Amino acid sequence: MKTLRTYLNNKDILSLQDLSSSEILSILKLASELKKELKGGKSRQLLKGKILGLIFQKPSTRTRVSFEAGMFQLGGNTIYLNLSDMQLSRGESIEDTARTLSLYLNCIIARVYDHTDVQKLARFASIPVINGLSDTFHPCQILADLLTIQENKRKLKGLRLAWIGDGDNVCNDLLLGCAKTGINITTACPKGYEPMQEIVRLAKEEGENTEAEIIVTEDPVVAVKDADAVATDTFVSIGKDEEKNRRQLVFFPKYQVNSEIMKLAKKDAIFLHCLPAKRGWEVTSEVIDGNASVVWHEAENRLHVQKALMCILMKVK
Ligand code: CP
Ligand code: NVA
Repeated sequence: MKTLRTYLNNKDILSLQDLSSSEILSILKLASELKKELKGGKSRQLLKGKILGLIFQKPSTRTRVSFEAGMFQLGGNTIYLNLSDMQLSRGESIEDTARTLSLYLNCIIARVYDHTDVQKLARFASIPVINGLSDTFHPCQILADLLTIQENKRKLKGLRLAWIGDGDNVCNDLLLGCAKTGINITTACPKGYEPMQEIVRLAKEEGENTEAEIIVTEDPVVAVKDADAVATDTFVSIGKDEEKNRRQLVFFPKYQVNSEIMKLAKKDAIFLHCLPAKRGWEVTSEVIDGNASVVWHEAENRLHVQKALMCILMKVK
């Protein structure tokens, strides 16, 4: 399997900044191969003897289960590190925890609030660290989204994607992922909820190499015009619950993906959502449960891209 020999320059994947365009395409290729094998009832034990540690500061359904299931399918083992059972909860530093875990494990996936926590973990661990979502980035989600778009549209380069809603962690990495794979992306976010300026700048730089156009607007109608794909996320990310009125006052209903908005996209446009979704808020049931929706496909692809990523990071030959 040629793609297994792919070499990553960085041992840690904290955002899609850590992957080049060709590395992203190699991961998607390997993910497709592993997916095909699994559908055919095969699962090579490529990670036999390897152990993945999972640290979650925030709740998760898809990320935790797809990492654990993927590791089992590849013959490896997982250890779920319950935060309240760890010395971290009594003040042991992230630095010392990282050094210690590197003595026993082959890879760590961590979901954190503050992105600097996963950066610190990666800096002091001698084994690969994967960001399973931080307040700033969600790289694994975007790898799954790119695979889903590729499978549904048969290409990536030259497509148009509209992001409508909060310019959050998912949006930041989506900007990078689109720019690196040649997808034109327009984000439509309310004032004060735009994606990070630094990421928009980086995405524009990347876009110069792949001919991807990166546009930031506040107007969902502008963003969705002629889009091949429309994506959104919850209006209230984990940890943002204090802004009780953000849904009602800032986002709803202008930034809701509904049938009217979808009608402005291309006829065969697909709808993406990383899940969990709040039906009736950022998306209507009609859209998320309708024909354009590829959200289950997207959730399934988390498994396949993460298996590919783990094989490459753990340098399976
Ligand atoms: N999309 C996603 O990361 O889902 P979970 O929060 O359930 O892991
Ligand atoms: N933006 C959301 C994504 C959940 C997968 C959050 O951070 O809660």
